[in-house]
This record gives sequence, structure tokens and C-alpha cells, in this order.
Amino acid sequence: MKLQAAAVLSFAAAASAKWTNNLNYRSPSEHHPFMGIAIHKVVRRTNYATPFNASQLNFTHGVASGDPYEDSVILWTRCSPVYDDDKSNITVTGTVPLYSHEHNEYVSVSAAPVCVNWQVSTSPNMTTPVSQGTAYTSSDIDYTIKVEATKLQPFTQYYYRFGVCNSTNYSPVGRTKTAPGPNDDTAAVSLAIYSCSNYNFGFFNAFGNAARKNSVDYVLHLGDFIYEYAEGAYGWGWSLGRIPQPNAEIRTLYDYRKRHATYRADLDSILSFQSFAWIPVWDDHEVGDNTYRDGMADQNNTEDSFIQYDIEYGGEYVSFDQRKMNAVRAYFEWMPIRQVEMDDNLRIWRSFSIGTLFDLIMLDTRQYDRSITDLYWNTDYIHQISNDAGRSMMGSRQENWFYNQLSASQERGATWRLIGSQTVFSRQNESIVYGNQDPLDYDAWDGYQANRNRTFQHLYQNNITNNIVMSGDSHMSWVSDLIWLDEHPYDENTGAGSVGVEFAGSAVSSPCPYGQNITQVSANNASNWLVHANKELQWQDVYYRGYYELTISKTQVNARFYGIPSIVQRLPYEVSLANFTVMAGANALQRPVAGGIVASGALKNGTTRMMNMTNNTLTGQYIVTDLQSFGYNQGPNGTRTNGTSGQPQQSSASGPGVPAPTTTS
Ligand SMILES: *[C@@H]1O[C@H](CO)[C@@H](O)[C@H](O)[C@H]1NC(C)=O
Ligand SMILES: *[C@@H]1O[C@H](CO)[C@@H](O)[C@H](O)[C@H]1NC(C)=O
Ligand SMILES: *[C@@H]1O[C@H](CO)[C@@H](O)[C@H](O)[C@H]1NC(C)=O
Ligand SMILES: *[C@@H]1O[C@H](CO)[C@@H](O)[C@H](O)[C@H]1NC(C)=O
Ligand SMILES: *[C@@H]1O[C@H](CO)[C@@H](O)[C@H](O)[C@H]1NC(C)=O
Ligand SMILES: *[C@@H]1O[C@H](CO)[C@@H](O)[C@H](O)[C@H]1NC(C)=O
Ligand SMILES: *[C@@H]1O[C@H](CO)[C@@H](O)[C@H](O)[C@H]1NC(C)=O
Ligand SMILES: *[C@@H]1O[C@H](CO)[C@@H](O)[C@H](O)[C@H]1NC(C)=O
Ligand SMILES: *[C@@H]1O[C@H](CO)[C@@H](O)[C@H](O)[C@H]1NC(C)=O
Ligand SMILES: *[C@@H]1O[C@H](CO)[C@@H](O)[C@H](O)[C@H]1NC(C)=O
Ligand SMILES: *[C@@H]1O[C@H](CO)[C@@H](O)[C@H](O)[C@H]1NC(C)=O
Ligand SMILES: *[C@@H]1O[C@H](CO)[C@@H](O)[C@H](O)[C@H]1NC(C)=O
Ligand SMILES: [Fe+2]
Repeated sequence: MKLQAAAVLSFAAAASAKWTNNLNYRSPSEHHPFMGIAIHKVVRRTNYATPFNASQLNFTHGVASGDPYEDSVILWTRCSPVYDDDKSNITVTGTVPLYSHEHNEYVSVSAAPVCVNWQVSTSPNMTTPVSQGTAYTSSDIDYTIKVEATKLQPFTQYYYRFGVCNSTNYSPVGRTKTAPGPNDDTAAVSLAIYSCSNYNFGFFNAFGNAARKNSVDYVLHLGDFIYEYAEGAYGWGWSLGRIPQPNAEIRTLYDYRKRHATYRADLDSILSFQSFAWIPVWDDHEVGDNTYRDGMADQNNTEDSFIQYDIEYGGEYVSFDQRKMNAVRAYFEWMPIRQVEMDDNLRIWRSFSIGTLFDLIMLDTRQYDRSITDLYWNTDYIHQISNDAGRSMMGSRQENWFYNQLSASQERGATWRLIGSQTVFSRQNESIVYGNQDPLDYDAWDGYQANRNRTFQHLYQNNITNNIVMSGDSHMSWVSDLIWLDEHPYDENTGAGSVGVEFAGSAVSSPCPYGQNITQVSANNASNWLVHANKELQWQDVYYRGYYELTISKTQVNARFYGIPSIVQRLPYEVSLANFTVMAGANALQRPVAGGIVASGALKNGTTRMMNMTNNTLTGQYIVTDLQSFGYNQGPNGTRTNGTSGQPQQSSASGPGVPAPTTTS
């Protein structure tokens, strides 16, 4: 009798482990399971006697990994019986837990269990797994699976795959890499750094290039991985076959899930997630345009806005708070990242110790606790208050954590401090486009000068050196010495006075704010104006979509910026735009900056020479061609199409397989 009871107990424990192994049931809070899905209710409704047949299940979005620690990494996949995502939009009613999923009214609740195994091996043929496990998923979490593979060795490359239990239905094999241990003397680590991937503006070639080159250890994404708009509101993808789903401005949980599903179906997105461990954070568009703590550009957290906005968008009432929760939940379900504790709001900010080489501090300067931002109707006001001491990009809790992280990193003797910020940190006089009344980008750190000053104060006062800020959001490239202007003396020729360097990268596909179809000549003229208007800005490029790579070693950090010659087709080409070096202890860009020559944009004290050289990252062959021939205003067949100032073209242009354009608002 006793034996039997023990057997039943261990069966129950094993079955429940299979549910809790899937971290997404506990989203959005590890330590507050009552905020997540009530697993016991899912278990109660599950009918183990009638599982899905393995052939009914598909790994719909490849595999992904992320947030590497020295002994573990997060593995992700999605195993679904139906292509469509869960249409649930009624996550909160009455006294049900925040994320109850018991309603069958709009939801197709799965009663059949989806059981998935995972294995990690040092070889791509998956023999001799070194870590493995089993997890269930269900409609409650959009059939996503997120597990932590543990007991791994530091800074080691691994392969992994998922499989439907008791079947040969396997996912593709993914590759990942653990982090070095905090005290490991790692010689060099390289990163590919991305931001702003907009599906309907074009293909995510930039993601694929680093994978094809196999050039880095990890991938960082600084946010705007998705955009919330309907086709035609910001991005015109119909002629590219890239209309984001659902084709409406996204607000419900279903919407956000479906939007992630669209973006994650891009072939280069799949390739990058499959090839590298990702360390992503969100910017504004993971929720909506210019979000801050309490609202966004076209939705205020007020009753008026609630009613007005929702009538405009089809009468489905979703408040700003609820919308943010929907977005955050879908983000954690879809991204291969660890669940950071959310006692205090919706925390994603976190840090990684990468050997004694560097600490990586990933900030949330957007959603967590940001003071009011530029919402377009209030730009003059935000300009007026941009120097108020009370303003914060991060909220005081995160700010204190940030400053403590910087000190702790210095104290533990890490050579470098890498800081991932969404928006550009350095001052950017952009009166060339914004005019003289409000010349700065008040949605970036320029709108939060006190927070920037506190950061500088902490760095200067404590002699914290070798700081590298990485940022995105601006859809252009900016490389600057990191200097507290008007407070500390700075020599722009030598870099003396600065405490590090900022590398701000261009967008994967979102257009530069000076016009999607800007010519290279006008773009370079704008860059030229910008580097002259901004003392600390050493290189700027408006023209190219792209990304950059950093190689961090004990003695130096090398940055390589790449431009993507075309995003209107899936192509493996890229242009080397500019290379930079920061020597350890120098705290500024090495002179002559970029070796005195760049291939695009404007260099403060050097030459821009178009080299017209494109690397085919698939073959490694360079072709020399007139890069203008790849211009953005070129259709996929190479012929020039006549765009009508940002509007989608009319259906007369639609051909076979080209969906007619849809406009929403
Ligand atoms: C699974 O994927 C295959 C190939 O992409 C497709 O033909 C099939 O319809 C999918 N099955 C389901 C259940 O979605
Ligand atoms: C949820 O979506 C369904 C189907 O799209 C719609 O009919 C229903 O009104 C929505 N419910 C709520 C509470 O928004
Ligand atoms: C799997 O790969 C490992 C190392 O890569 C190799 O030693 C082993 O022979 C391979 N096994 C099979 C069955 O191919
Ligand atoms: C897999 O097979 C084992 C026995 O071979 C069985 O105990 C288990 O229930 C099966 N799992 C599923 C999900 O069918
Ligand atoms: C060009 O592409 C090849 C093939 O992916 C890669 O090995 C090589 O490093 C690239 N060259 C540069 C300078 O990035
Ligand atoms: C938000 O509030 C401001 C100030 O009252 C107003 O100008 C704006 O139209 C509102 N936006 C929406 C979408 O309601
Ligand atoms: C930030 O520093 C600049 C330069 O010293 C100064 O002009 C500005 O008033 C400071 N603002 C705050 C709020 O500290
Ligand atoms: C920082 O460096 C300066 C100049 O070398 C020195 O005077 C000061 O004591 C240092 N401060 C700290 C906190 O180490
Ligand atoms: C950057 O460095 C790579 C590798 O040395 C080189 O191939 C490339 O031409 C350089 N790019 C520029 C713009 O100097
Ligand atoms: C640029 O370089 C030249 C020669 O190396 C130097 O004389 C000059 O001061 C530098 N700075 C600027 C802003 O021109
Ligand atoms: C690159 O192409 C442009 C446009 O055709 C041309 O003006 C320029 O001379 C070329 N540069 C080189 C180095 O070939
Ligand atoms: C840029 O050109 C493309 C192709 O001609 C066109 O579809 C698009 O609307 C243009 N964009 C702008 C902002 O003019
Ligand atoms: Fe963006």
C-alpha cells in the first residue's frame, strides 16, 4: 500500500513539474504565481487520455535561446496544434486572477496536453545530451514553451532541440552559448547590437547577416523588436508580402501575441534566434509609440482618451494599463528571457557579469517608471521641464540599482561597463529638423537631463571608467565621446575629459526620421550638419539601416558598423561603414577617430569615401557595385516604383500574390 501511495505521489510530482518547468505559466511574476496562470486549474481541465497526435503539432516559429548565465540558459519554442493564436482578450473580469484563462467564450481552451521534451548537447547531432527535461504547454500561454537548461559549463557552445513527447516530431536544432563565469579570465567576447526592426518597412537582413558570418557570441536587441501599427500607419509592407498581423493597431493580448508571431516568422529573425543567445529589452513600440509610465502618444490614461481612442479603433475598450499588461505578457511569452521579479511594476532591467571582462547592464528607460515624455501635443512643455530635477527615465528604484551596479562592477574589477539604453544618451542638437524652438529629442535622454547628470555625477565622482553606452531608437548611427557637456572640460580633438564612449546604432529596418527615401547625398549633408552642431559627436550616419558589432577584450573595444544596402528584398549583403577603437583606460574614441575614413555619413575630423563594396555574408564574396542601385525606393524586381509620398499604392498596382492594400484609420 505504502509503495503504491509513493508511486502515485511521485507521478503527481513529475506531472506537475512538467507544467512548472514551463516558465511562461508563472509570467509575469516568478514569486507571485497567483498573478500568472493557475496551473492547478489547467491541470484539472487537462484530459491526459486524449493527447494531440504528434502529427497535429507544429514547431511554428523555430527555436530561440537567451539570457545566458555561466551554468544555464533559457530555451524557447512554440508547439501549436493550430496556426492561429489564442483570441483571448478578456484577461481580467471580476475577481478572477489577473491572467485567468477559464473562459471558453472567445477562447479555444485546449484540454489535450501538449507535451514537449528538450535536450541540450555539445554536438549538433544531439548525441549524449548534457541537460534535458519535459514541459507542457497549452492555449493559456499561446502554446509557447520557455525552459531553463541548467548544469551547463561556462562560455561553452551548445546545441539544443525540442521534440513532441514520444514522437520523432522534432524542432530544428538551435545553437546557444553560456556566459563566462564572473571570475573567469575570458579573453574576448563579441556582440551584435540591434534595434528597431519594423516588419512592413522591410526584411530583417541585418539579423541574418551576423548569423551567416557567425561573427559574434551573443545578440543584444535594445528594443522596438515589434511595432504596434496597422499596415499603412507606419510602414507599407503590402508590396513586400509583409503585412503585420493582425492588420490593425494592436491592443489586446491576442493582438500582441499575433504581432510577435508575425515578426518571429521573418526568416532572418528565425535564423538569428536559432544561432545565438539573445539578450533583449523593450523600447516604446513593444507597447506603443512614445510610451512612458502612464500613457503614450495616442492614448492617455484618462476616461476621455479611453473612450475617444477606442471609438477610433473599432470600439474595443482597452485602457492604457491593460494594454501595457497585454504587451508585457506577450513579450515574456515570446522572448527567450528570464522572468525578472515584478514585485515592483513590470521589471525587465537586469545585468550580466561576463567574466572579469565586463558587466552588461540592461536598462529599461521606457516602460518601467519614466516621467512624462514628448507626446507630440506637449513638446513645448516637455522642453520647458526637461531640466527639472525630479524627472527620471528609470524611476528612482531603477536609478539607484543602476548606480550601484556601476560601482559594484568597478569594485569587482571588471575591465569594462557596457550599458544598454533604449534611447540615445548624449546630447543631440537636431534643430536641422526640429527647428530652434525645441531643438532636442525630448523623448531621449535630452528630455531627462537630471537623470543624465546623476549618471555622469556618479561616474565622475567615483572615477568609474571604461564605460560604453549602447543605444538604439533613433534609426540613425551616432558615435560620441561620453562627456558631461558644460560641466567638465572636453577636448573634441583628443577626447580628453570624457568617461567613455557611446555607440548608438541604426535601425534594422525602420526608416530614418528625415525621410524613408532620402538620397545618400542629402543624408550625408544632414550628417555633416549634425557632427558640426554637436561637439562630442564624432561620427553620424543618417542613410543606412543596419547594426553594429562590438568585440570586447582586455585591452580594447572594437566597434564595426554595418549598413544594409536593401531591405526591400531578403538579401545577404552588407557594407562596412565605419570601425572604431576604444583603448582600455582611454575613456574616449581612439584618434584619429575611425582611422580617419568612413564609407558613409560624416566624420568630425576625417573623410567620407563611398567604397561601393558589399560583402555577401553567405559566400564571403565582395562585390563592387553602385550601392544606389539597392536604394530603398526600388521595387523587388529592381525597377523603380513611384511611391506617392508615404501612402500605400492603389490596388491597380496589385498583381498575383500581392494583397490589395488595406488602410485602417
Ligand atoms: C504544420 O506545418 C506544415 C508544414 O509547414 C503544414 O503543412 C501543416 O499544415 C502544419 N500543421 C498544422 C497543424 O498547423
Ligand atoms: C473580445 O473579442 C471578441 C472577438 O474579437 C469580441 O467579440 C468581444 O467583444 C471582445 N471582448 C471584449 C471584452 O473586448
Ligand atoms: C556526433 O557528433 C560527435 C561530435 O561532434 C561525434 O563524435 C559523434 O560521432 C557523432 N555521432 C553520430 C551518431 O553521428
Ligand atoms: C510517453 O510514453 C510513456 C511510456 O512509453 C508514457 O508513460 C507516457 O504517458 C507517454 N507520454 C505521452 C505524453 O504520451
Ligand atoms: C564577409 O562575409 C564573410 C562570410 O560570411 C565573413 O566570413 C567575413 O568576415 C565578412 N567580412 C567582413 C569584413 O565582415
Ligand atoms: C491626451 O491628452 C491631451 C491633453 O489633454 C490631448 O491633447 C490629447 O488629444 C489626448 N490624446 C488622446 C488620444 O486622447
Ligand atoms: C545638468 O547639467 C548641465 C551641465 O552642467 C546643467 O546645465 C543643467 O542645469 C543640469 N541639470 C540638472 C537638473 O542637474
Ligand atoms: C578620483 O580620482 C581623483 C583624481 O585622480 C582623486 O583625487 C579622487 O580621490 C578619486 N576619487 C575616488 C572616489 O576614488
Ligand atoms: C573595417 O574593418 C574591416 C576589417 O578589418 C575592413 O575589412 C573594413 O574595410 C573596415 N571598414 C572601414 C569602413 O574602414
Ligand atoms: C583635425 O585634425 C587636424 C590634423 O590632425 C588637427 O590639426 C585639428 O585640430 C583636428 N580637429 C579639428 C576639429 O579639425
Ligand atoms: C561609388 O558609386 C558612386 C555612384 O555611382 C560613384 O559616384 C563613386 O565614384 C563610386 N565610388 C567608388 C570608390 O567607386
Ligand atoms: C519611398 O519609396 C517607396 C517605393 O517607391 C514608396 O512605396 C514609399 O511610399 C516612399 N516613402 C516615402 C516616405 O515617400
Ligand atoms: Fe524605433
